[in-house]
Amino acid sequence: MHGQMPTQPTTRPVVLVTGASSGIGRATAQRYLGRGGVVVLLVGRRIDALRETVDMARLGPGAEAHVLVHDLAEPGQTAALAKQVRELHGRLDVLVNNAGVGSQLTFEDSSGADDIDRLLDTNLRAPIHLMHDLFELLSASGGAVVNVSSVAGLVGTPDSPVYSATKWGLTGVSEALHVRWKPTGVHVACVQPGPVPTPGWPNHHLMGSWIGRRLTASADDIARAIVRAGDRQGPAFVTRPRAFGAIHVARAAAPGLLRTMLQRVRSGTGSGRLVEHSGRD
Ligand SMILES: NC(=O)c1ccc[n+]([C@@H]2O[C@H](COP(=O)([O-])OP(=O)(O)OC[C@H]3O[C@@H](n4cnc5c(N)ncnc54)[C@H](OP(=O)(O)O)[C@@H]3O)[C@@H](O)[C@H]2O)c1
Repeated sequence: MHGQMPTQPTTRPVVLVTGASSGIGRATAQRYLGRGGVVVLLVGRRIDALRETVDMARLGPGAEAHVLVHDLAEPGQTAALAKQVRELHGRLDVLVNNAGVGSQLTFEDSSGADDIDRLLDTNLRAPIHLMHDLFELLSASGGAVVNVSSVAGLVGTPDSPVYSATKWGLTGVSEALHVRWKPTGVHVACVQPGPVPTPGWPNHHLMGSWIGRRLTASADDIARAIVRAGDRQGPAFVTRPRAFGAIHVARAAAPGLLRTMLQRVRSGTGSGRLVEHSGRD
Protein backbone atom coordinates (compact mmCIF):
# COMPACT_ATOMS: atom_id res chain seq x y z
CA MET A 1 0.00 0.00 0.00
CA HIS A 2 1.55 3.31 -1.00
CA GLY A 3 0.64 6.79 0.26
CA GLN A 4 -1.35 7.82 3.30
CA MET A 5 -4.50 6.00 4.42
CA PRO A 6 -7.20 7.41 6.70
CA THR A 7 -6.60 7.07 10.45
CA GLN A 8 -7.54 3.63 11.71
CA PRO A 9 -6.53 1.92 14.94
CA THR A 10 -4.59 -1.29 14.50
CA THR A 11 -3.83 -4.19 16.79
CA ARG A 12 -0.74 -4.99 14.70
CA PRO A 13 2.64 -3.58 15.77
CA VAL A 14 3.69 -0.49 13.82
CA VAL A 15 7.35 -0.10 12.81
CA LEU A 16 8.87 3.06 11.35
CA VAL A 17 12.11 2.73 9.34
CA THR A 18 13.87 5.88 8.11
CA GLY A 19 16.10 5.55 5.06
CA ALA A 20 14.05 2.57 3.83
CA SER A 21 14.74 3.31 0.15
CA SER A 22 18.28 1.85 0.09
CA GLY A 23 20.90 -0.34 1.75
CA ILE A 24 20.48 -1.20 5.42
CA GLY A 25 17.09 0.52 5.80
CA ARG A 26 15.69 -1.28 2.76
CA ALA A 27 16.89 -4.66 4.11
CA THR A 28 15.40 -3.83 7.54
CA ALA A 29 11.98 -2.80 6.17
CA GLN A 30 11.90 -5.93 3.99
CA ARG A 31 12.78 -8.14 6.96
CA TYR A 32 9.88 -6.68 9.00
CA LEU A 33 7.49 -6.98 6.03
CA GLY A 34 8.53 -10.62 5.55
CA ARG A 35 7.50 -11.43 9.12
CA GLY A 36 3.91 -10.46 8.50
CA GLY A 37 1.35 -9.22 11.04
CA VAL A 38 2.99 -5.80 11.06
CA VAL A 39 2.48 -2.30 9.68
CA VAL A 40 5.73 -0.86 8.29
CA LEU A 41 6.12 2.86 7.63
CA LEU A 42 8.94 3.41 5.13
CA VAL A 43 10.53 6.88 5.10
CA GLY A 44 12.90 8.47 2.58
CA ARG A 45 13.09 11.26 0.02
CA ARG A 46 12.68 9.11 -3.13
CA ILE A 47 9.18 7.74 -3.54
CA ASP A 48 10.11 5.43 -6.44
CA ALA A 49 12.93 3.82 -4.45
CA LEU A 50 10.64 3.39 -1.42
CA ARG A 51 8.01 1.75 -3.64
CA GLU A 52 10.72 -0.51 -5.03
CA THR A 53 11.60 -1.63 -1.48
CA VAL A 54 7.99 -2.73 -0.99
CA ASP A 55 7.66 -4.24 -4.48
CA MET A 56 10.84 -6.31 -3.95
CA ALA A 57 9.78 -7.50 -0.49
CA ARG A 58 8.25 -10.87 0.26
CA LEU A 59 5.17 -9.80 2.24
CA GLY A 60 4.19 -12.07 5.11
CA PRO A 61 0.50 -12.55 5.93
CA GLY A 62 -1.03 -9.38 7.38
CA ALA A 63 1.92 -7.17 6.41
CA GLU A 64 1.00 -3.62 5.45
CA ALA A 65 3.38 -1.02 4.02
CA HIS A 66 3.04 2.75 3.92
CA VAL A 67 5.47 4.93 2.00
CA LEU A 68 6.05 8.34 3.60
CA VAL A 69 8.17 10.85 1.69
CA HIS A 70 10.14 13.27 3.88
CA ASP A 71 13.47 15.05 3.64
CA LEU A 72 14.50 14.68 7.27
CA ALA A 73 17.28 17.26 6.88
CA GLU A 74 14.68 19.97 6.21
CA PRO A 75 13.37 22.02 9.16
CA GLY A 76 9.90 20.92 10.24
CA GLN A 77 10.00 17.57 8.42
CA THR A 78 10.54 15.44 11.52
CA ALA A 79 7.57 17.15 13.21
CA ALA A 80 5.48 16.60 10.05
CA LEU A 81 6.47 12.92 10.02
CA ALA A 82 5.63 12.47 13.72
CA LYS A 83 2.21 14.05 13.11
CA GLN A 84 1.62 11.71 10.17
CA VAL A 85 2.55 8.68 12.33
CA ARG A 86 0.13 9.81 15.07
CA GLU A 87 -2.66 10.31 12.52
CA LEU A 88 -2.08 7.13 10.55
CA HIS A 89 -2.65 4.42 13.17
CA GLY A 90 -2.11 6.30 16.44
CA ARG A 91 0.46 3.67 17.41
CA LEU A 92 4.20 3.07 17.19
CA ASP A 93 6.06 0.00 18.47
CA VAL A 94 9.53 0.31 16.91
CA LEU A 95 11.35 3.38 15.61
CA VAL A 96 14.43 2.57 13.50
CA ASN A 97 16.51 5.73 13.06
CA ASN A 98 18.60 4.57 10.11
CA ALA A 99 18.66 7.39 7.50
CA GLY A 100 22.16 8.80 7.19
CA VAL A 101 24.56 10.47 4.80
CA GLY A 102 28.29 10.89 4.37
CA SER A 103 30.22 13.68 2.72
CA GLN A 104 32.23 13.96 -0.46
CA LEU A 105 34.06 17.07 0.73
CA THR A 106 37.18 17.30 2.84
CA PHE A 107 36.62 18.93 6.24
CA GLU A 108 38.78 21.91 5.24
CA ASP A 109 36.92 22.55 1.95
CA SER A 110 35.99 26.24 2.02
CA SER A 111 32.58 25.53 0.44
CA GLY A 112 31.69 22.86 3.00
CA ALA A 113 29.62 24.73 5.61
CA ASP A 114 26.24 23.62 4.18
CA ASP A 115 27.56 20.09 3.91
CA ILE A 116 28.46 20.08 7.62
CA ASP A 117 24.90 21.16 8.45
CA ARG A 118 23.42 18.50 6.14
CA LEU A 119 25.30 15.77 8.00
CA LEU A 120 24.39 17.14 11.42
CA ASP A 121 20.72 17.57 10.42
CA THR A 122 20.27 14.16 8.79
CA ASN A 123 22.39 11.95 11.05
CA LEU A 124 21.86 13.56 14.45
CA ARG A 125 19.18 16.28 14.66
CA ALA A 126 16.52 14.21 12.84
CA PRO A 127 16.83 11.04 14.98
CA ILE A 128 16.87 13.08 18.20
CA HIS A 129 13.74 14.99 17.15
CA LEU A 130 11.95 11.80 16.12
CA MET A 131 12.69 10.20 19.50
CA HIS A 132 11.48 13.37 21.23
CA ASP A 133 8.31 13.75 19.14
CA LEU A 134 7.37 10.06 19.15
CA PHE A 135 8.12 9.30 22.82
CA GLU A 136 4.46 9.45 23.81
CA LEU A 137 3.43 6.83 21.24
CA LEU A 138 6.44 4.64 22.08
CA SER A 139 5.74 4.77 25.79
CA ALA A 140 2.04 3.95 25.24
CA SER A 141 3.04 0.75 23.42
CA GLY A 142 6.10 -0.07 25.59
CA GLY A 143 8.03 0.19 22.34
CA ALA A 144 11.64 0.29 21.22
CA VAL A 145 14.04 2.58 19.39
CA VAL A 146 16.97 1.27 17.35
CA ASN A 147 19.49 3.91 16.36
CA VAL A 148 21.86 3.01 13.53
CA SER A 149 25.18 4.56 14.51
CA SER A 150 28.55 3.30 13.19
CA VAL A 151 31.99 2.19 14.30
CA ALA A 152 32.73 5.84 13.40
CA GLY A 153 30.70 6.51 16.56
CA LEU A 154 33.27 4.55 18.58
CA VAL A 155 36.46 5.94 17.10
CA GLY A 156 37.17 9.38 15.59
CA THR A 157 37.61 8.73 11.86
CA PRO A 158 40.13 11.23 10.41
CA ASP A 159 38.72 11.02 6.87
CA SER A 160 35.20 11.86 8.00
CA PRO A 161 35.32 14.00 11.16
CA VAL A 162 31.79 15.45 10.95
CA TYR A 163 30.24 12.09 10.08
CA SER A 164 32.13 10.65 13.05
CA ALA A 165 30.82 13.47 15.28
CA THR A 166 27.22 12.73 14.28
CA LYS A 167 27.64 9.03 15.02
CA TRP A 168 29.32 9.68 18.40
CA GLY A 169 26.37 11.95 19.14
CA LEU A 170 23.90 9.25 18.18
CA THR A 171 25.74 6.66 20.29
CA GLY A 172 25.74 9.10 23.23
CA VAL A 173 22.06 9.99 23.06
CA SER A 174 21.24 6.28 22.71
CA GLU A 175 23.13 5.47 25.93
CA ALA A 176 21.55 8.40 27.79
CA LEU A 177 18.00 7.52 26.72
CA HIS A 178 18.56 3.79 27.24
CA VAL A 179 19.02 4.56 30.93
CA ARG A 180 16.60 7.50 31.15
CA TRP A 181 13.67 5.70 29.50
CA LYS A 182 14.11 2.29 31.17
CA PRO A 183 11.52 3.10 33.86
CA THR A 184 9.05 4.18 31.13
CA GLY A 185 9.23 0.79 29.38
CA VAL A 186 10.76 2.24 26.20
CA HIS A 187 13.84 0.25 25.16
CA VAL A 188 16.61 2.18 23.37
CA ALA A 189 19.19 0.17 21.43
CA CYS A 190 22.06 1.12 19.16
CA VAL A 191 23.58 -0.85 16.29
CA GLN A 192 27.10 0.14 15.24
CA PRO A 193 28.02 -1.28 11.84
CA GLY A 194 31.51 -1.42 10.40
CA PRO A 195 31.79 -1.26 6.60
CA VAL A 196 28.68 -2.51 4.77
CA PRO A 197 28.56 -2.46 0.95
CA THR A 198 25.47 -0.38 0.08
CA PRO A 199 24.60 2.12 -2.66
CA GLY A 200 25.63 4.97 -0.35
CA TRP A 201 28.84 3.33 0.88
CA PRO A 202 29.95 0.84 -1.80
CA ASN A 203 33.18 0.12 0.16
CA HIS A 204 34.81 -1.04 -3.09
CA HIS A 205 38.28 -0.62 -1.59
CA LEU A 206 37.55 -3.37 0.96
CA MET A 207 35.80 -5.84 -1.28
CA GLY A 208 38.98 -6.55 -3.28
CA SER A 209 40.87 -8.30 -0.47
CA TRP A 210 40.25 -11.38 1.69
CA ILE A 211 40.77 -9.49 4.96
CA GLY A 212 38.61 -6.59 3.71
CA ARG A 213 35.72 -8.95 3.00
CA ARG A 214 36.11 -10.48 6.48
CA LEU A 215 35.80 -6.99 7.98
CA THR A 216 32.56 -6.16 6.20
CA ALA A 217 28.96 -7.12 6.98
CA SER A 218 26.07 -7.35 4.53
CA ALA A 219 23.06 -5.03 4.71
CA ASP A 220 20.99 -8.06 5.67
CA ASP A 221 23.39 -8.96 8.53
CA ILE A 222 22.84 -5.47 9.93
CA ALA A 223 19.08 -5.64 9.31
CA ARG A 224 18.99 -8.87 11.34
CA ALA A 225 20.85 -7.14 14.19
CA ILE A 226 18.44 -4.19 14.03
CA VAL A 227 15.33 -6.39 14.18
CA ARG A 228 16.80 -8.41 17.07
CA ALA A 229 17.59 -5.19 18.93
CA GLY A 230 14.03 -3.94 18.32
CA ASP A 231 12.76 -7.26 19.76
CA ARG A 232 14.97 -6.64 22.85
CA GLN A 233 17.00 -9.76 22.12
CA GLY A 234 20.68 -9.72 23.04
CA PRO A 235 22.65 -6.68 24.16
CA ALA A 236 21.25 -3.18 23.59
CA PHE A 237 24.52 -1.97 22.02
CA VAL A 238 25.71 -4.14 19.14
CA THR A 239 28.83 -3.79 16.95
CA ARG A 240 28.96 -5.74 13.64
CA PRO A 241 31.13 -7.36 12.36
CA ARG A 242 32.05 -8.51 15.85
CA ALA A 243 35.79 -7.94 15.19
CA PHE A 244 35.18 -4.19 15.58
CA GLY A 245 34.18 -4.82 19.20
CA ALA A 246 37.95 -4.80 19.81
CA ILE A 247 37.76 -1.00 19.54
CA HIS A 248 36.08 -0.91 22.98
CA VAL A 249 39.01 -2.86 24.47
CA ALA A 250 41.66 -0.79 22.64
CA ARG A 251 40.08 2.49 23.76
CA ALA A 252 39.98 1.39 27.39
CA ALA A 253 43.41 -0.26 27.46
CA ALA A 254 45.52 1.90 25.15
CA PRO A 255 43.80 5.01 23.75
CA GLY A 256 47.12 6.49 22.58
CA LEU A 257 47.88 3.33 20.60
CA LEU A 258 44.43 3.51 19.01
CA ARG A 259 45.17 7.05 17.75
CA THR A 260 48.59 5.98 16.48
CA MET A 261 46.92 3.18 14.52
CA LEU A 262 44.42 5.67 13.04
CA GLN A 263 47.33 7.87 11.99
CA ARG A 264 49.03 4.88 10.32
CA VAL A 265 45.85 3.89 8.47
CA ARG A 266 45.42 7.48 7.31
CA SER A 267 49.04 7.77 6.14
CA GLY A 268 48.50 4.54 4.24
CA THR A 269 45.48 5.92 2.39
CA GLY A 270 47.11 9.24 1.38
CA SER A 271 45.66 12.56 2.53
CA GLY A 272 43.54 13.13 -0.59
CA ARG A 273 41.66 9.83 -0.52
CA LEU A 274 38.01 9.82 0.55
CA VAL A 275 36.07 6.74 1.60
CA GLU A 276 32.61 8.31 1.91
CA HIS A 277 29.87 8.63 -0.66
CA SER A 278 26.84 10.81 -0.92
CA GLY A 279 24.14 8.33 0.03
CA ARG A 280 22.49 8.36 -3.41
CA ASP A 281 21.86 5.37 -5.67
N1 LIG B 1 27.17 1.26 4.72
C1 LIG B 1 28.08 1.42 5.65
O1 LIG B 1 29.27 1.10 5.48
C2 LIG B 1 27.66 1.95 7.00
C3 LIG B 1 28.53 1.76 8.10
C4 LIG B 1 28.18 2.26 9.33
C5 LIG B 1 26.97 2.92 9.49
N2 LIG B 1 26.14 3.10 8.42
C6 LIG B 1 24.90 3.83 8.63
O2 LIG B 1 23.81 3.04 8.19
C7 LIG B 1 22.74 3.89 7.79
C8 LIG B 1 22.23 3.44 6.43
O3 LIG B 1 23.29 3.58 5.49
P1 LIG B 1 23.36 2.77 4.13
O4 LIG B 1 24.74 2.24 4.03
O5 LIG B 1 22.21 1.85 4.00
O6 LIG B 1 23.28 3.99 3.10
P2 LIG B 1 22.40 4.26 1.80
O7 LIG B 1 22.33 3.04 0.95
O8 LIG B 1 22.98 5.50 1.20
O9 LIG B 1 20.98 4.59 2.40
C9 LIG B 1 20.78 5.80 3.10
C10 LIG B 1 19.29 5.98 3.32
O10 LIG B 1 19.10 7.23 4.05
C11 LIG B 1 18.08 7.96 3.40
N3 LIG B 1 18.29 9.39 3.56
C12 LIG B 1 19.42 10.09 3.35
N4 LIG B 1 19.21 11.40 3.55
C13 LIG B 1 17.90 11.52 3.90
C14 LIG B 1 17.08 12.63 4.22
N5 LIG B 1 17.55 13.89 4.23
N6 LIG B 1 15.79 12.41 4.53
C15 LIG B 1 15.28 11.15 4.51
N7 LIG B 1 16.02 10.06 4.23
C16 LIG B 1 17.30 10.24 3.91
C17 LIG B 1 18.20 7.56 1.92
O11 LIG B 1 16.95 7.70 1.28
P3 LIG B 1 16.63 8.79 0.12
O12 LIG B 1 17.86 8.93 -0.70
O13 LIG B 1 15.46 8.20 -0.58
O14 LIG B 1 16.26 10.00 0.89
C18 LIG B 1 18.53 6.07 2.02
O15 LIG B 1 17.36 5.31 2.12
C19 LIG B 1 23.30 5.32 7.82
O16 LIG B 1 22.89 5.96 9.00
C20 LIG B 1 24.80 5.11 7.83
O17 LIG B 1 25.47 6.18 8.45
C21 LIG B 1 26.46 2.63 7.17
